[in-house]
Amino acid sequence: MSGLPSVTGVVAIDSRPEVSEAMEVEFPGVVGRPSLVTALDEVDAVVVATPPETHFDVAAEAIAAGKHVLVEKPMTTNSLDGRRLVEMADRAELTLAAGHTFAHNAAVRTLADMVERGALGPIHYLDSARLNLGVYRRDVNVLWDLAAHDISITNLILHDVPDVVSAWGSRHTDRYSEDVASLRMQYLRGRVEATVRASWLDPVKVRRTTVVGAKKMAVYDDVATDERIKIYDRSRKVAGLGPRGRGHSLSYRHGSTVAPHIDFPEPLRLQAEDFLESCRTGRRPVADGLAGLAVVAVLEASDQSIRENGAPVRIDHRVVELISNLAA
Ligand SMILES: NC(=O)c1ccc[n+]([C@@H]2O[C@H](COP(=O)([O-])OP(=O)(O)OC[C@H]3O[C@@H](n4cnc5c(N)ncnc54)[C@H](O)[C@@H]3O)[C@@H](O)[C@H]2O)c1
Repeated sequence: MSGLPSVTGVVAIDSRPEVSEAMEVEFPGVVGRPSLVTALDEVDAVVVATPPETHFDVAAEAIAAGKHVLVEKPMTTNSLDGRRLVEMADRAELTLAAGHTFAHNAAVRTLADMVERGALGPIHYLDSARLNLGVYRRDVNVLWDLAAHDISITNLILHDVPDVVSAWGSRHTDRYSEDVASLRMQYLRGRVEATVRASWLDPVKVRRTTVVGAKKMAVYDDVATDERIKIYDRSRKVAGLGPRGRGHSLSYRHGSTVAPHIDFPEPLRLQAEDFLESCRTGRRPVADGLAGLAVVAVLEASDQSIRENGAPVRIDHRVVELISNLAA
């Protein structure tokens, strides 16, 4: 933030004084404060990057004091709090943005654009994997921590929110939270399914999104140093009846693979610029409070589904209504 021309000053607020003091040393010009209340007179907007369980209280305090707010993902730890933040910001005519970094990622936006133009054909399914030997968080499980990104990416690519969610998870390291989990999301309007695998317990770092269409397939590999997106001109279709008139035979098309060049501006910088522009003009941020709420609602449903051994859970209808009313 401090490097952006429209920002005249940055206050680093952390309840641990050693953290804000370290930031004062590392970033000359930054002023440290021990709590939001002691900094309210000095700021117009607040970025909430505290542990998820504190997001609601800190963001609500900032909005109540008339500040624009960007809240890191996951925006809140339940959809009731998410709805309350959206409504508070709406009533106060303040910007509420969700820290969905991938909404500002050029590769994800390229995929979303291709899907919207129909370049891959009707979409069959999406699949994502976000795995590594990760940093364990105590307050949320691996889906809330890692799959939050994949849910926001999938919603953005499909321009939709899922209706039904199923999830499975296991606890290998402690009894507090799932460290390996899978999620299945059904987008009933587009009849598309998306699956996500997330793990803090995998030897290989994987950050991959695959979009399979009827005409072409695309893979976004965020770990690749170049050629992050590859488009495979491959498909299969039913060619006719199978042997002796039973079943069906398939024909496969193996065309070329292209890796389009993509300029890749720093997503965090784009996110900060987008937030500041929304604060200044009142326009909606790229990932607004509703986008944050949509991700929280899926994660909340995933908790219920994990407790019920993967049973399908419908997204809270109040969230879906709010999203469709406010987004209209
Ligand atoms: N978008 C992304 O790619 C991305 C990446 C990493 C983390 N995050 C998110 O950022 C947030 C922070 O993650 P982290 O790994 O830095 O967490 P962290 O626990 O390492 O640091 C959080 C800091 O917040 C401080 N804090 C806690 N409660 C506070 C309060 N009420 N007021 C002021 N300070 C308070 C703590 O002292 C700590 O220094 C999380 O929500 C996480 O999900 C997002």
